[in-house]
Amino acid sequence: MNSKIALSKFSKIALIFIFIFLKTPDAFSQKNHSMAHENNAVESKIDSIISLLTLEEKVDMCHAQSKFSTKGVERLGIPEIWMSDGPHGVRAEISWDSWDFAGWTNDSITAFPALTCLAATFNPELSGAFGYSLGEEARYRKKDVLLGPGVNIYRTPLNGRNFEYMGEDPFLASKMVVPYIKGVQKNGVAACVKHYALNNQELWRNQVNVEVSDRALYEIYLPAFKAAVIDGGVWSLMGAYNKFRGQYCCHNELLLNKILKKDWGFDGVVVSDWSGAHNTYESAMFGLDIEMGTGTDGLGSTTANHYDHYYLATPFLKSLKAGDIDESVVNDKVRRILRLMYRTNMSSNRPLGRKNNQEHHDVARKVATEGIVLLKNKNNFFPIKDENITIAVIGENATRSMTAGGGSSELKPQFEISPLEGLKMRYKNATIVHSMGYATGPSAYDAVIPSKLDADSLRVEAIKVAKNADIVLFFGGLNKSHLQDCEGADREQFNLPFGQDELLNDILRVNKNVGYILVSGNAVEMPWLNSINGVIQTWYLGSMAGYAIADVISGDVNPSGKLPFSFPVKLQDNAAHSFGELSYPGKDYNQVYKEDILVGYRWHDTKKIAPLYAFGYGLSYTSFNITDIKVDKKAYTPQDKIKLTCQVTNTGDLEGAEVVQVYIGKQKSKVKRALKELKGFQKINLKSGGQKAVEITIDAANLAFYDESISDWNLEKGDYIIYVGNASNNIAETIKVNIK
Ligand code: BGC
Repeated sequence: MNSKIALSKFSKIALIFIFIFLKTPDAFSQKNHSMAHENNAVESKIDSIISLLTLEEKVDMCHAQSKFSTKGVERLGIPEIWMSDGPHGVRAEISWDSWDFAGWTNDSITAFPALTCLAATFNPELSGAFGYSLGEEARYRKKDVLLGPGVNIYRTPLNGRNFEYMGEDPFLASKMVVPYIKGVQKNGVAACVKHYALNNQELWRNQVNVEVSDRALYEIYLPAFKAAVIDGGVWSLMGAYNKFRGQYCCHNELLLNKILKKDWGFDGVVVSDWSGAHNTYESAMFGLDIEMGTGTDGLGSTTANHYDHYYLATPFLKSLKAGDIDESVVNDKVRRILRLMYRTNMSSNRPLGRKNNQEHHDVARKVATEGIVLLKNKNNFFPIKDENITIAVIGENATRSMTAGGGSSELKPQFEISPLEGLKMRYKNATIVHSMGYATGPSAYDAVIPSKLDADSLRVEAIKVAKNADIVLFFGGLNKSHLQDCEGADREQFNLPFGQDELLNDILRVNKNVGYILVSGNAVEMPWLNSINGVIQTWYLGSMAGYAIADVISGDVNPSGKLPFSFPVKLQDNAAHSFGELSYPGKDYNQVYKEDILVGYRWHDTKKIAPLYAFGYGLSYTSFNITDIKVDKKAYTPQDKIKLTCQVTNTGDLEGAEVVQVYIGKQKSKVKRALKELKGFQKINLKSGGQKAVEITIDAANLAFYDESISDWNLEKGDYIIYVGNASNNIAETIKVNIK
């Protein structure tokens, strides 16, 4: 018998019938009823607007009129749509026709931490607060569409944009993206989940053609987008730059028409990435609704309005007039655009929005402190409690702005507290001496501008400062300039840039009491790891960076972040880099994801390649025990929920938070499978000595794999192993269950 879990068409209809006719009316169904009524009313208003629009007006709505806006229809009172980057804060105002800043003075905002940090909190509720606060700022800035969040999967540590995404695990990214989207959209601002799909490197992003199996596509690269659409109800989505199976993602028939719009029922707007559209027929027919950013200068080389020459502008109009493309095609796009407007700038009950307020700063600080990951803590090096000491703060990243650079996610914060400022405010009685140690030059897009400072004198000075200190805190890592965690290019090396390894070794010769604070959105090589006492991963933390770092270093906040991606020991230990050029970065702009479903910890686990730091790993200043791990049954049907319970005890002296992580694997399978995959997690806070019961529920159906032979999900019967722990490589106990 086929163990496929999908219900037959007949039984689905029967279930719907039973639901509709046998369920007694309650508040829930009344609410659904009134929502359906409202939706119908909106759809009929849209019908009547469409009937009033000329073909020219319809086409005008399908492409940009400036860098970040589309045209309205003045005679009918239909507004323009205003979009803005990005995932971590609302970008400064950009000029009408170029990428230059418009020079406004009222566009500074709260810079929230980068999404790697948000993912590291493993706290979906906090993700909701993040999205809500960011949405309020977007609303205040009069934006209708916020160009984020990004959920491309962390495939290689060289990807320059990993910091904008939510890590390597599709389950974690799915759980974190949904509340973020709902939070943004509560403000009448559309989130725009991006970059759909397979934009997992920046190198050659405009040309590379990605080939990946259906299995990896559905199991690894699509789930977070699917969750954004189905569970998050996202109102817009951005296509990726790259090609997938030979067709550009911004007009990819399979990704957009089939999977997104047909299978997932997406009723929102597909926006192209800026210059991601390449062809009129495909843009019209294969799912793109709004074309943005084509060409780099809005006025281009033509004297006429450049925007008229977009693929979805005059050429589209001509095809419609000639009858080569049916009018229903443009009507569908306009219907989606108007629907987005009724949800945003034509909504009658849109809140007002706020920015730079205390609540937003508090959310930014909470995300930052909860996302910081303590990686190493020999002899309780952290927290630093003694205040009457000399602290040498070495490294450019102690003072460098990390809201600058990075590309489209660059921000203009109202303020940004640097780590050095944060430490000085926190340790008022300590002597804090800063020395840059190395200098990298100003941040630029697509170019490296070397520093004019003398490298030797910086190094000599830093060693001197370190020698005379009780403690050395080295703030290094990457810095969001070209080739260092920035859009448009990948990193060129896995080890730390700018001679940091050498400098660290020189410092260790004069002072052994060193902690390294890694400011990055990516894993790096750590050849000096055994010689130093502590390592903290801090990400790009935004406005409140310095406060949050001082909170954790001082122990005012007990760290509870967990890595959302694996740190390999060396680059070749990462799956994408184990298969040569074709796998990364590709050959002649063609790329094959040869590691298939074995991305991140799935690869490390299955191939028994120990990572330097594992997915899900992160230390605390206290300790926890996970005990009494139980499931409610031994065997489950495909429709069942697996109810897992355990007790978590804080066995240390301080209050703290722990993340219980549940992974599940199938050992004997008819297909290749990862040893285990994350299927549930929960973060809980406990006082010293405190104990709490945790319950995690997992749909048995979620243990299915994507079966290419039937092009559907398939839940195999038989035994599965449940692994429960506080990191992918630290499992407290395993339990065997059966799916019957
Ligand atoms: C980026 C997008 C961004 C857009 C607009 C593109 O280059 O890939 O993420 O939203 O520019 O700035």
